[in-house]
Amino acid sequence: MLTMNDIAVDPLSLGEAADFSALFGNDRPVELEIGCGKGGFLLRQARAHPERNYLGIEWANAYYKFAADRMARWGLGNVRVMRCDAKPFVLRRVAAGSLAALHVYHPDPWPKRRHRKRRLVQADFAEAAARVLAPGGRLAVQSDHAEYFCQMQAVILSRAEFMAAPFEDETIGAAGAGLQTNYEVKYLREGRAIYRLAVVKWT
Ligand SMILES: C[S@@+](CC[C@H](N)C(=O)[O-])C[C@H]1O[C@@H](n2cnc3c(N)ncnc32)[C@H](O)[C@@H]1O
Repeated sequence: MLTMNDIAVDPLSLGEAADFSALFGNDRPVELEIGCGKGGFLLRQARAHPERNYLGIEWANAYYKFAADRMARWGLGNVRVMRCDAKPFVLRRVAAGSLAALHVYHPDPWPKRRHRKRRLVQADFAEAAARVLAPGGRLAVQSDHAEYFCQMQAVILSRAEFMAAPFEDETIGAAGAGLQTNYEVKYLREGRAIYRLAVVKWT
């Protein structure tokens, strides 16, 4: 029986250079989801792929606690949830080549022009993603916000390390089922368009 304490990670306990082997107690591939919200995607992925490790980062305290408690109730030993600002974490504390996948679904769009600098996915993030992914690693982004999606697409595809890949593949559940994150479900119900991009680090 797992408790929330087995799942929730204190970012300070990870050290300056995050040690994922120590965190999970094994050397299995690690996938990171930024802005995991209530953890619906993490839950499905971790159940489908017990041979992989999943780390969810969530800034909002209530969602972080909800997600950590949810993973504990499902007894998912291959998931950890951490509360911190994911951007400096990825830029400075994740070792080169240490992630098998990076998932960013419905990141806050910060639609007002004066707030756009707060967006997660910008050129510096794309550069960091290219660094932290292992060769063959996958970066996937999804948004309902067309203008932010275009920005994400531009900075990601400008990296020579990345090659476009199918969004839905064998690592992301059944084809056509979608991600079923909370926001995806809500926006599809509202009939909004959803934009998706996946790339693989080929070099
Ligand atoms: C629009 S919600 C999407 C949640 C979920 N991915 C989904 O699709 O249902 C964006 C989430 O990202 C979190 N978030 C935004 N910026 C973040 C950051 N810098 N670090 C960690 N979490 C962040 C927010 O707290 C929020 O829960």
